[in-house]
Amino acid sequence: MTALPNLRIDADRLWDTIMETARFGATPKGGVRRLTLSKEDGQVRDWFRAACEEAGLTVTVDTLGNMFALRPGQDMTKAPLGFGSHLDTQPTGGKFDGVLGTLAALEVVRTLNDAGIATEAPLCVCNWTNEEGSRFTPALMGSLAHVGDFTAEDILARRDAGVITVGEALDAIGYRGPATVGAQTFSGFVELHIEQGPILEAEGKTIGVVEHGQGIVWYDGRITGFESHAGSTPMHLRRDALATLSELVLAIEALAVQHGPNAVGTVGEAVIATPSRNVIPGEITFSTEFRSPDAGTLETLHQGLQAKIAEIAARRRVKIALDLIWRKEPTHFDPTVIAAVRGAAETLGLSNRPMISGAGHDAFSLAGIVPTAMIFVPCKDGVSHNELESAEKSDCAAGADVLLHTVLTLAGGRPA
Ligand code: GLV
Ligand code: MN
Ligand code: MN
Repeated sequence: MTALPNLRIDADRLWDTIMETARFGATPKGGVRRLTLSKEDGQVRDWFRAACEEAGLTVTVDTLGNMFALRPGQDMTKAPLGFGSHLDTQPTGGKFDGVLGTLAALEVVRTLNDAGIATEAPLCVCNWTNEEGSRFTPALMGSLAHVGDFTAEDILARRDAGVITVGEALDAIGYRGPATVGAQTFSGFVELHIEQGPILEAEGKTIGVVEHGQGIVWYDGRITGFESHAGSTPMHLRRDALATLSELVLAIEALAVQHGPNAVGTVGEAVIATPSRNVIPGEITFSTEFRSPDAGTLETLHQGLQAKIAEIAARRRVKIALDLIWRKEPTHFDPTVIAAVRGAAETLGLSNRPMISGAGHDAFSLAGIVPTAMIFVPCKDGVSHNELESAEKSDCAAGADVLLHTVLTLAGGRPA
């Protein structure tokens, strides 16, 4: 039970900010295309910085563009409680993924301001750079560098497909900040997010109390076969890179199914180097990933993929190179923060259930250094990473209320 059980965020104000920011990168189909460090990302960052400053927060930006908006606490010897998410989207993303958690954090601050409530510990609203990982890899890039899993120098030098570096992209939108990566301290971290899956909606529950996050392993692959004439090369003499990839895609699907229900595998990108309708594809690059909440299963999938690749490459007389570019072991959130989230949901009379996060989140990174947990709310049909992504205003508000009361519990809030 928090000290201010009747306090609620402003549901209309939260919703209006979500719709307002959806203008930056709006797509004709009603979604958002706001790739990290793009012009549109720069626009939403400028909007966010101005809104935070208007709410009395002091905004700092680190070398990788991570944004931290600080609200003083009564005890400035305490490290701030961090909360927030990300404002970048997938190429065909929606209005809520990341945005809800970031703008709900701002809404919590606005609510505290309106009610004249001071917290004991300072608060820090966060917008992490490149959570999505679709323009630059890895995903969770800003938060992983913050916790020391990657150096800032390594990340600054990473290139997108158009060969622009992270450093150049930061400079282009003016978000290579002066603060040292990792310098911002936290006493804990909480992230609100849409579920991006179907469970809450199917069970008619409003709040997911996220206890674990799936482990993730990402690969970049290259298949080298041999280009030759589509009309005159007999089938048994072909070294077809696309036919090889097709077999590999089905093998990855089969591996995930075999180790299910707690395993998923995807090939999300594939590019034929020099496509032509009458040339047998000779070279293909692709990306693939596995996820599982179980570390042992993740390793089994990894080993299974190596074996399958060796077998397919030998039989088809092609070369398959596979680089493991990122591996994040499963995340186990902190019992105290989990209890604060559940307690907040109970105080507010909201139906809830424990959950495992299928998607990756910046909270996974923060869990490595401070007590952390997450709050989920339902999204329509469980759809995300899609322009159709949608969530109810009342669920967004319920999630933000749980965030508010979790923050009050962890940071110690009382009327000033
Ligand atoms: C990011 O959204 C991910 O889960 O890959
Ligand atoms: Mn997200
Ligand atoms: Mn996402």
